[in-house]
Amino acid sequence: MSLPSHVTLVDVGPRDGLQNEKQPVPTEAKVELVRRLVAAGLREIEVTSFVSPKWVPQMADNAQVLAAVGRPPGVRLSVLVPNMKGLEAALAAPPGQRPDEVVVFGAASEAFSQRNINCSIAESLERFRPVVAAAHEVDLKVRAAISCALGCPYQGEVTPDEVERVVVGMKEIGVDHCGIADTIGVGTPRRVQAAMERALRHFPLVEVSGHFHDTYGQALANVYACLEMGIHTFDASVGGLGGCPYAKGATGNVATEDVLFMLRGLDIDTGIDLDAVVDAAAFISDVLGRKPVSRSANALLARRAAA
Ligand code: HMG
Ligand code: MG
Repeated sequence: MSLPSHVTLVDVGPRDGLQNEKQPVPTEAKVELVRRLVAAGLREIEVTSFVSPKWVPQMADNAQVLAAVGRPPGVRLSVLVPNMKGLEAALAAPPGQRPDEVVVFGAASEAFSQRNINCSIAESLERFRPVVAAAHEVDLKVRAAISCALGCPYQGEVTPDEVERVVVGMKEIGVDHCGIADTIGVGTPRRVQAAMERALRHFPLVEVSGHFHDTYGQALANVYACLEMGIHTFDASVGGLGGCPYAKGATGNVATEDVLFMLRGLDIDTGIDLDAVVDAAAFISDVLGRKPVSRSANALLARRAAA
């Protein structure tokens, strides 16, 4: 199969990227990051999560962030919601400031489900069912994220059968999109293809995406493995920010800049300006007081400094 000619990147930096930061990141900086991503040409951005502030304090300003980013034309903004309470909070914003999309997040591993959202996989699906129905009633798209699809920090190995079981469960409760997530970055290309193949048995190509953390340096290879299957939607995080508070030691998502550099070399269109994403990475890295993790951002910043 030839590679896709266009790829959609969902920048999850403002949510997945920042949720794990110990130091409080000012709301204005989160809003400015989203603004810069929009200016760079990102058309899908995960801006925050409506989860318990006791569990993830960094996302406690979710409503303020959502209100302040407004509704840039042509941009789809999404937020994570673990339950009805989260959905109701996301929808409490005035109609012009609501998200376009919500993300329910389950796991292919029982142990991770318990640690991350405090319930079993079966309970999580029952919790998501009314969320999906209520979101659809107000015309919100619902994406599902399936964590630990390539391995679990508590359980270890996760099989394609275990992934497919949750894919089927998500399909049955009516989600529109299935994201396969390698939460701890242990996946390698052939194993990623095996997991993706299970998602594609139940969702069309256009509604399957990959979410790869880069803990073991495999994320770009895994994106490429998905491209070989025709998959053309990926989550990525500006500056390579991120991690999950319930997956200790896991590093950030594959960096948006690194994916863009590879796609540019493959002549695959994204509509996104790599240099502007590097600027956004430099901005948020300054706020956090450290260099971007992204190889491409650092290389391009060094080239600029030398010019
Ligand atoms: P729980 O304690 O079982 O919930 O937590 P509960 O329903 O028993 O409620 C307990 C308290 O939380 C109550 O407050 C509720 O009101 C409150 P209290 O009476 O004690 O004051 N509460 C909420 N508050 C705000 N927003 C809500 C909400 N729900 C309940 N939505 C819960 C269950 C799911 C809420 C909790 O476990 C939680 O918030 N977990 C967050 C987990 C999380 O955000 N993880 C990181 C994101 S997932 C991720 O990063 C993976 C991903 O990137 C893909 C990948 O890489 O794998 C997506
Ligand atoms: Mg993640």
